[in-house]
Amino acid sequence: MRRFSQRRMRTLMALCCALTFSMLVLSCTLGEPSLYFFRLVVGLSDSSCACSRCISHLNPQRDEDGWFMERFNESFKPLLSRSNSFISDDTYRWWQWLQAEMNPSNLSSVLDRLFQLIPADEHYDDGGPHRCRICSVVGNSGNLWESHYGSDIDASDFVIRMNQAPTEGFERDVGCKTTHHVLYPESAVDLNNSTSLLLIPFKTLDLEWITSALTTGNISHTYVPVMSHIRANKHKVLIYSPSFMKYVYDSWLEGHGRYPSTGFLSLMFAVHVCDEVNVFGFGADPDGNWHHYWEKNMQGGAFRHTGVHDGDYEYNITLLLADKHKITLYT
Ligand SMILES: *[C@@H]1O[C@H](CO)[C@@H](O)[C@H](O)[C@H]1NC(C)=O
Ligand SMILES: *[C@@H]1O[C@H](CO)[C@@H](O)[C@H](O)[C@H]1NC(C)=O
Ligand SMILES: *[C@@H]1O[C@H](CO)[C@@H](O)[C@H](O)[C@H]1NC(C)=O
Ligand SMILES: *[C@@H]1O[C@H](CO)[C@@H](O)[C@H](O)[C@H]1NC(C)=O
Ligand SMILES: *[C@@H]1O[C@H](CO)[C@@H](O)[C@H](O)[C@H]1NC(C)=O
Ligand SMILES: *[C@@H]1O[C@H](CO)[C@@H](O)[C@H](O)[C@H]1NC(C)=O
Repeated sequence: MRRFSQRRMRTLMALCCALTFSMLVLSCTLGEPSLYFFRLVVGLSDSSCACSRCISHLNPQRDEDGWFMERFNESFKPLLSRSNSFISDDTYRWWQWLQAEMNPSNLSSVLDRLFQLIPADEHYDDGGPHRCRICSVVGNSGNLWESHYGSDIDASDFVIRMNQAPTEGFERDVGCKTTHHVLYPESAVDLNNSTSLLLIPFKTLDLEWITSALTTGNISHTYVPVMSHIRANKHKVLIYSPSFMKYVYDSWLEGHGRYPSTGFLSLMFAVHVCDEVNVFGFGADPDGNWHHYWEKNMQGGAFRHTGVHDGDYEYNITLLLADKHKITLYT
């Protein structure tokens, strides 16, 4: 009896030692050992949202080198609102240089007019332990052809598509739901009343265009002819923030390419407003061809090396995000 309890004591002490040792190891290898250990012990290892995995959750186990945390900065908000419309001189100069508009209008007056037409409040600032928002970002790659991903895509809370992105006739592969359609004046299409138009402005004129396209229709030309009227629900129009765009360029692309592509900007929007992100239709098709899922043209690879976007670098970052379990990439 006595010998048994001695053994128990020894076991207990061994356990204690092991625990101390592992904490010591943890504190040597992790930046915030106490926090991490606390979360581990009380079982809150993914408490920043209500999903089983949360993008914004700091997870040293899966992000050992801090790669994600070095780039991800929640203080940048993806969308403009009346209270989040400050653009620094530095950012303004960078943004204005993208498409080099001659004699741009006064930005603050243009935004004033726009926010009288569309919602001016903050959006999606509701993240926390009670939210589980699952998003699908759907690119236009030919790898969606015959993929049968339609029902997986439609099962998400947000389905984010971009530019032309037809769904009619392709439902089995790409789904039919669209909560957000990302576009700019030169890529605009008419939208369903239940879809949010998410405009990426590359110049001041683009902000004047959306106001015009939803009202008078007096702008029909930017650097090419554009739709003078667009069918879209003005109560659901959202504007991508130029400051956020610069953050994506500096922090995530580290200055590669001239500016980020619509696809990459859409992905970064999702990474910052969603808790879980599924990515479809990015990258080449299984034969290595770059074309759209609605085209039979297999020679559509020209856009990759135009010098405007660095498609290879963007895709590398996308692969790394998947590697770190921040997004799920469907190919
Ligand atoms: C996030 O960005 C803000 C604004 O530029 C900056 O002040 C802050 O240091 C950044 N945070 C991190 C963790 O990089
Ligand atoms: C733009 O207009 C605002 C008032 O709406 C004014 O305060 C500001 O100085 C103007 N900016 C420029 C560059 O003219
Ligand atoms: C709008 O989209 C919803 C679902 O995404 C669909 O049920 C509805 O038929 C669409 N309406 C039109 C006019 O296309
Ligand atoms: C579109 O949706 C808005 C609400 O966002 C509603 O007020 C309007 O009646 C709808 N229009 C049509 C044509 O369904
Ligand atoms: C379009 O109309 C608006 C408001 O009526 C006006 O402020 C703007 O200057 C016009 N733009 C063009 C290009 O005619
Ligand atoms: C992408 O990553 C691979 C290795 O992971 C590297 O060899 C290649 O140079 C990278 N490409 C770009 C454009 O950074």
